[in-house]
Amino acid sequence: MIENPSHSDLLSKDGIIDLLEHSEVFDLTIFDETDSTNDVLKEMAKNGAPEWTAIIARRQNRGRGRLGRSFVSPEGGLYMSLLLRPELSAADSLFITTAAAVSVAEAIESMGVEKVGIKWVNDIYIDNKKVCGILTEGAADPTDGRLSYAVLGIGVNVITPDDAFPDQLKNKAGSIFGSDAPHDTLCSLTAAILNRLYCRCSSPDKTDHLSEYRRRSVIVGKNVALKINGNELRAKALNINDDLSLLVKTDDGNVTSVLSGDVTVTDF
Ligand code: BTN
Repeated sequence: MIENPSHSDLLSKDGIIDLLEHSEVFDLTIFDETDSTNDVLKEMAKNGAPEWTAIIARRQNRGRGRLGRSFVSPEGGLYMSLLLRPELSAADSLFITTAAAVSVAEAIESMGVEKVGIKWVNDIYIDNKKVCGILTEGAADPTDGRLSYAVLGIGVNVITPDDAFPDQLKNKAGSIFGSDAPHDTLCSLTAAILNRLYCRCSSPDKTDHLSEYRRRSVIVGKNVALKINGNELRAKALNINDDLSLLVKTDDGNVTSVLSGDVTVTDF
């Protein structure tokens, strides 16, 4: 359990807004508890909610991750979904996920944490433990394939106590800060993420963040196991291409690009 007196002290709307550089553009709502902030925001998006609407929860009961997985969401974490209406095709939605990964990494670093890594395509790692996952979900206009909206869901283990993770995640998931973190850590990190997201997502060049993304890669140069549609492939990760696919050299010597899949580093 968190030792601080009240959860609303740890994560409050006013505490976040005070630290936003463009507070006028955001419409924030904070829930104590919800099933999934992405689900709440998707309904709002379908009903015409404006860009930069954000739903934040102190806990989620049914947090969702990529590939149909669940995302364990106890107190002490930040669970946030942000509505974007970008001029992008649905096929380009990876640019949103990766711009968000860079924004989260930079925000964490701005709070004095070093060696924040990104595991292609959507996970943030510190000391070999996952501290953040990102799930972008959208709807495309069937007439032109452009995104009518994208819901960017970000889950961060900020001051999550170790015992809040189930046994099967204890070696894989970690928290950025311990229980001695300053009282305003959750608000500061939330605002730092939103400030960076606003800059990155407002950039006319959707590839602006690529060099920062590559620089933080924890898989380039490493041997990896890739799971693609249930098949496992052993390979060396060579680079992240400009279209955000992963360039790999498979064990049989072929060099190929992979657009989606699940990666595990097999050497450290
Ligand atoms: C992953 O690790 O596969 C992605 C995890 C994304 C979790 C966030 S938490 C806020 C938003 N609401 C959800 O249900 N999921 C995302």
